[in-house]
Amino acid sequence: MMKSVFIGSGAYLPQRAIANDELSKTIDTSDEWIVARTGIRRRHVAAEGEFTSDLAYEAAKEALASAGMKASELDLIVLATATPDETFPATATVVQTRLGVAGIGAFDVQAVCTGFIYALAVANNFIKAGQSRNVLVIGAETFSRILDWQDRATCVLFGDGAGAVVLRAEPDQGNGARGIMSTHLHADGQHHDMLYVDGGPSSTRTTGHLRMKGKEVFRHAVVNLAQVVNEALQANDLEAEAIDWLVPHQANKRIIDHTAKKLKLPPEKVVLTVEEHGNTSAASVPLALHEAVSDGRITPGDVILMEAMGGGFTWGAVLARW
Ligand code: ACO
Repeated sequence: MMKSVFIGSGAYLPQRAIANDELSKTIDTSDEWIVARTGIRRRHVAAEGEFTSDLAYEAAKEALASAGMKASELDLIVLATATPDETFPATATVVQTRLGVAGIGAFDVQAVCTGFIYALAVANNFIKAGQSRNVLVIGAETFSRILDWQDRATCVLFGDGAGAVVLRAEPDQGNGARGIMSTHLHADGQHHDMLYVDGGPSSTRTTGHLRMKGKEVFRHAVVNLAQVVNEALQANDLEAEAIDWLVPHQANKRIIDHTAKKLKLPPEKVVLTVEEHGNTSAASVPLALHEAVSDGRITPGDVILMEAMGGGFTWGAVLARW
């Protein structure tokens, strides 16, 4: 059996950052309200004509460079997004073309904010099955394009960005060795109405806008995330103390604090980017991961627990040794 080892990471944020004070000029909100309820201070927004594939491509290039790998060595691209450039083809194929690697498999995964966790699980299974050796996994979003900028309850929460990792197949030498230890995926479509986009090619033939019942999402998020992080630990016979870094989905600092508290993890072990990025959906976990890798906090051999929850609902976790 093969194991998926992380050998590189990259990230990209659009140049323009919008601070809370700027939003309070166009909608009835304030920096105090947003920071107190969410921890968010600013978010990045893609420029006119800058697409999800552009963000993804930049993150992918950096991930490949840090892995010391040429794009031609890849044999699969898996891209998580809920905001593809177009309804089809998959944004992964646009990135593939820009990387100049025609012919290899490339497809999108759609699990909204849990997208990167789902994409990692898919890539990991390709590697474990012996079908792929070098896989590029990307989370990229331009949520600014599906926000109702008049809805203060949602538009203050999200941002655009991309993160990527390169996974390489190596012979499995057990959980003491580097690589993905386990992946855990869940969904419950009964909760559709709590978080969805009111448009789509088959229903309204429009792109639509994000709609959310924030309080209900919050309530489900804390329960589902507590469940899935425990599931990941139990599956590996580990206690929470074994976690070197919690790399959570960056939706809301209060949700993250709740998960860390349940695990009895000190704040120093939690990677937080929500303040600077807002919620970048499928990009949030790889953006946080890359930040902690590039600033030297996460080092080879560290145990990292990644988790996310999003529309659907979907939720999941990946436990790995970096
Ligand atoms: N600025 C000022 N006031 C606001 C704003 C705003 N941006 N947004 C809402 N309000 C007002 C509401 O209108 C309401 O006013 P009212 O009492 O006069 O009716 C008041 O603030 C309280 O609103 P609530 O929705 O009850 O506020 P709550 O404390 O639940 O916080 C929030 C809202 C931040 C959205 C919270 O519910 C939350 O974080 N939920 C999780 C949502 C989330 O993270 N979604 C991301 C996708 S899923 C995921 O990634 C986990």
